[in-house]
Amino acid sequence: MQFGTSSIDFSILPYQEGINPPVTKPNPGFLTDIGEEGMRDLLERFYMKLFESPIKELFPKDKEAMREAGQFSADFFIQICGGTPYFNQHRGAPQMRGRHAPFRITPTARLHWLVLFEEALQPIIDNQLSSEENIQSFWNYINVFSQWMINTKEA
Ligand code: HEM
Repeated sequence: MQFGTSSIDFSILPYQEGINPPVTKPNPGFLTDIGEEGMRDLLERFYMKLFESPIKELFPKDKEAMREAGQFSADFFIQICGGTPYFNQHRGAPQMRGRHAPFRITPTARLHWLVLFEEALQPIIDNQLSSEENIQSFWNYINVFSQWMINTKEA
């Protein structure tokens, strides 16, 4: 039985307009702990949550297209954690801000995105698939880097 006693800090940094704080990549240990399949499962869970979320309008309307998008995202996260550079191989240079530019990403969209990512991480915590230190470093990375993706003021 799980008691949910993890001490990982999932607080969300407040967004400050015009400031892109320095980003530290996640510990490679997060990837070695969960493996490529674990990362693909994580992004599958996350994208299926996004598909039914308050920010679903930003994403593909078709479930299969959404699943495929999740796997490009998994390619990225495997690469950023020091694994095989699948994203470069399949999609080219990441240039994440440029790739997000066509989408209206507001501070509120970022909050939804992060909360759903936290939910998608829960099975990794519950099943102790990675150390708290490595999960924390992964969270810290998306917490900071997600601020860089905001490109639209609140409606
Ligand atoms: C701030 C909240 C964010 C929102 C609302 C958001 C939204 C989106 C949307 C609408 C797309 C296009 C559909 C798709 O291909 O998935 C996308 C693509 C992607 N996003 Fe985000 N994103 C956010 C933050 C991030 C962050 C922080 C990262 C990386 C750390 C990231 C990584 C990616 C990747 C790798 C893709 C796929 C790009 C491609 O294959 O060309 N996103 N995102």
